[in-house]
Amino acid sequence: MIIAEKVSDVKAAVRQWKQAGESVGLVPTMGYLHEGHASLIRRAREENDRVVVSDFVNPTQFAPNEDLEAYPRDFEADCRLCEQLGADLVFHPEPKEMYPEGFHTGVSVDVLSKELCGKSRPIHFGGVCTVVTKLFHIAEADRAYFGQKDAQQLAIVQRMVRDLNYNIEIIGCPIIREEDGLAKSSRNTYLNPEERKAALVLHRSLELGREKMEAGERDAKVLLDAISSEIEKEPLARIDYVQIVDWNELQPVEQLAGKVLCAMAVYIGKVRLIDNFIFEA
Ligand code: PAF
Repeated sequence: MIIAEKVSDVKAAVRQWKQAGESVGLVPTMGYLHEGHASLIRRAREENDRVVVSDFVNPTQFAPNEDLEAYPRDFEADCRLCEQLGADLVFHPEPKEMYPEGFHTGVSVDVLSKELCGKSRPIHFGGVCTVVTKLFHIAEADRAYFGQKDAQQLAIVQRMVRDLNYNIEIIGCPIIREEDGLAKSSRNTYLNPEERKAALVLHRSLELGREKMEAGERDAKVLLDAISSEIEKEPLARIDYVQIVDWNELQPVEQLAGKVLCAMAVYIGKVRLIDNFIFEA
């Protein structure tokens, strides 16, 4: 497995693969890999001749008050996992390799970036779109793999690729959960044992919403009230948002119709966690 820190080293490896007619699957990550990332890497391994994993905590998607410095990192463990899973290359650049002096270009997707996480993280998705654009080009990826846990990110990247005619297929993969239902996330490691228990309220309240939808409830306000009340029963939880939006434009709906995303961000103590499900009404 190649470990590359320079863009030019990734390009050199990819050039050889492409000359041999091989396809490349890219798994963009910020490292501290867990079973959720592993599922993306396994899928990429199945569907491509070559697999590139990027391992880069991207500074441009963090606002100054967010957890950039504290974001968990363990590059050696990441490499071990990538090797076990059969990745061909791990790209681990320094920030200045990705954003050299004089870097002034950004990519952003309007409308879809403004709801849900975009309300409290207004610069986040611009940073994501810019870095994944760079990664798509550097790896010359045929396919890129994203988890549905970051459903808004997945929808935005899919829209960017469609709107700007990128030559890449975006593959959305299911949320991977702990046995008790908590969605896997690198940020779960910030939780102390009491908060870890409290964090189950995200999945529990979403399941309550899903049951009501399956039983025929279509009024978004009724559903959101039920979900929010369940969260409010947990003293350590503070809601950032709970929303039901249409999957196409990510705009709030009043009545459920077609494909909708029910998503939330909830603070458990100081840790902001997200979770969601997609429902076909
Ligand atoms: O989902 C993430 O870990 C990041 O947003 C991504 C896609 C790797 C871009 O930095």
